[in-house]
Amino acid sequence: MTTTEKIYDPDWRDRFFQRWHGIDVEGILPVEAIASADLAASSRGTFYQPIPIRFLKRILKSARATGVPFRNFVDMGCGKGKACLFMARSGAFRRVIGVDISSRLLGVARDNRAHIGSVVPIDFVEADAQTYQLPDGPTLVFLFNPFDAVALSRFIANNLAHFRKTGSIIAYGFDIERDVLAEHGFYPLWRDDKKRLSFHAIQ
Ligand SMILES: C[S@@+](CC[C@H](N)C(=O)[O-])C[C@H]1O[C@@H](n2cnc3c(N)ncnc32)[C@H](O)[C@@H]1O
Repeated sequence: MTTTEKIYDPDWRDRFFQRWHGIDVEGILPVEAIASADLAASSRGTFYQPIPIRFLKRILKSARATGVPFRNFVDMGCGKGKACLFMARSGAFRRVIGVDISSRLLGVARDNRAHIGSVVPIDFVEADAQTYQLPDGPTLVFLFNPFDAVALSRFIANNLAHFRKTGSIIAYGFDIERDVLAEHGFYPLWRDDKKRLSFHAIQ
C-alpha cells in the first residue's frame, strides 16, 4: 500500500454516515499530505483511506461473538477517526482511543468528534504506534493496514505483555502483514479471505 490505490470501495452506507453526522471521514490522502514531523515513522506508514462501514459492522459483530468483555477500542492509525466514531456509538466499549502520527488528520478527527453524539469518551492521541503502550484492560485493537511489517513488529513486541495479560484481540483489515502476528505468537480466530479481514488472539 505504498501508492494511493483504493483497497475497498465505499458505498451508500459510508456516504450516509458522513452526511448524517456532518463529518469529514472519506477521501484518500497520500503519505506526503499526512506526514508527521517524524519522517522516519511516516516512511513506514501507509496513505489515508477510511475503512468502509460494512467492515466496521462485521468487526463489531465478531467482537461481540468472541465473548471477551472488551473495555477499550483502539484504532492504531485512526486517521480522521471513522472507526472510533462508529465504535463509540455502538455501546460495546467503555473507552475509545484513536492513535495517529499525523497531526493534520487528528485535527480533522477532533472536529468530527465534536459532531458525534457519544456517551463514551473518545481520545485522539498523537503518537507513533511503534512506541505506544496500549491501555489497561481487554481491548479490541484495530489495524487497517496502517504501516509496514517492521513498524507492526515493533508495536506488537512493545505490547506483548499487555496481550498476554488481558487477552486483547487484534482486528486486522487488509491484513497483508499478518505473518508478523504469527511470528509473535498470535493465531487467527478467523479470516475472511475475500475481505482480507481477520481476527487474531495471542496463544
Ligand atoms: C489506511 S489509514 C487507516 C485509517 C483508519 N484506521 C480507518 O480505518 O478509517 C492508515 C493510518 O495510519 C497512520 N499511521 C501510519 N504510520 C503510523 C504510525 N507509525 N503510528 C501511528 N499511526 C500511523 C496514517 O497516518 C494513516 O492515518
